[in-house]
Amino acid sequence: MNRVLLFIVALAAFAFTKPCLADLSLTLNNDDMAKAESMYQRYCSLCHGVQREGYKADHAPSLRSQSLLSTAFPQMLFDSIAWGRVNSAMDGYIDETGGPLAESDILLLIRWLAQKENSSAIDLNQDPIPGNALRGKKLYSKNCASCHGNEGQGITGTALADQLFLASATDSYLKYAIVNGRDGTPMQSFAGTLQDEDINDVVAYIRSQASGWSPQPPELAQWPDASEYVMNPNGEAPQFNLREGRYVPAREVEKALKDNKKFIILDTRPGSAWQRIHIPGAVPMPYYRDKSRIAENLPNDGTWIIAYCACPHAASDSVINHLRSLGYQNTAVIDEGIIKWIEMGLPVVAGKNKVN
Ligand code: HEC
Ligand code: HEC
Repeated sequence: MNRVLLFIVALAAFAFTKPCLADLSLTLNNDDMAKAESMYQRYCSLCHGVQREGYKADHAPSLRSQSLLSTAFPQMLFDSIAWGRVNSAMDGYIDETGGPLAESDILLLIRWLAQKENSSAIDLNQDPIPGNALRGKKLYSKNCASCHGNEGQGITGTALADQLFLASATDSYLKYAIVNGRDGTPMQSFAGTLQDEDINDVVAYIRSQASGWSPQPPELAQWPDASEYVMNPNGEAPQFNLREGRYVPAREVEKALKDNKKFIILDTRPGSAWQRIHIPGAVPMPYYRDKSRIAENLPNDGTWIIAYCACPHAASDSVINHLRSLGYQNTAVIDEGIIKWIEMGLPVVAGKNKVN
């Protein structure tokens, strides 16, 4: 199986359990609001912005629009945060996938997100929306592809062909977003531009991109021990040519791996992302780890420390900035990030998700 395919299958093989969303009234007290806010600032603001406005990094969407909150609360918000999205910087955060948050933390976060904007849930119809997918494809290419990508892979707009997204977004959810847009964001309302039937056809086209995979529980790997952080401790130091004094090309890192050089690679994505796939030898060092603990087991003796993330700099920059502030000398960020790394066919270790 080729690596990209393996990557997608491994990522898709999640336990897709539904939480109990019974009592989700929006009446959090001040303590809960403060707890949620601090979780949000620690784990989410890096990309979604301190004020939840979005677009701080990696085209992360706004988490404030009424259009999103009223239709995504509770299930879509829960799923997006728990499982993430396959080929984007949005990783899963629930502990079952190796992420840092318990189900109860995510439930608190989604209630906080909705309560901050005084949003109330709209009950959308669950029925499939019939439409002509072929006709929808043409309309999609003309009206949507410039932001969402020819293949729905996402550019400045969300990845609509993402398998985790499609596994939880209903047809009515998609249609609502297209008809109403997402207020305060580049996603405009198409109510005046497209007829109702056109929109149904576009929804049918987007739906036709879902592969319909079935849920499988992931098997979590052990995190490496501190004694394993430095690869090839008796090897020589690698030679890296940094762009802007910071970014190292993926090819140079691949060569250093192949030549058994002495260095450390840090995976700065959430633990769940490391569990699914990582560069061989990479140590999980999520961007949200307490600053006081980042350097805990990292030698400050000139050993090269290379960080990477998904898309491709926000999380890794924040960890490297911290190490540099502590005086670490030889540090860099993999310029391309791991998504490009995989597309380039460079080596990765896939997680232990059971693949059929
Ligand atoms: C490294 C950047 C990054 C971090 C950190 C991050 N996100 Fe995201 N998030 C994204 C991106 C990018 C998307 C859109 C993915 C796509 O294109 O499909 C997204 C999508 C989402 C969505 C779906 C929104 C929609 O419009 O469908 C929600 C909800 C969300 N994130 C919540 C969170 C929460 C809560 C946290 C913290 C626990 C978080 N994110 C952390 C980058 C990030
Ligand atoms: C100008 C760029 C642009 C165009 C054109 C555009 N979109 Fe969007 N779309 C976005 C952005 C950006 C978002 C995320 C908005 C946010 O919440 O911050 C989005 C969000 C969405 C969402 C919600 C996704 C989610 O995770 O909840 C859907 C569905 C969607 N767009 C469908 C479409 C369709 C279908 C078309 C064509 C008819 C289209 N969009 C055209 C930029 C665009």
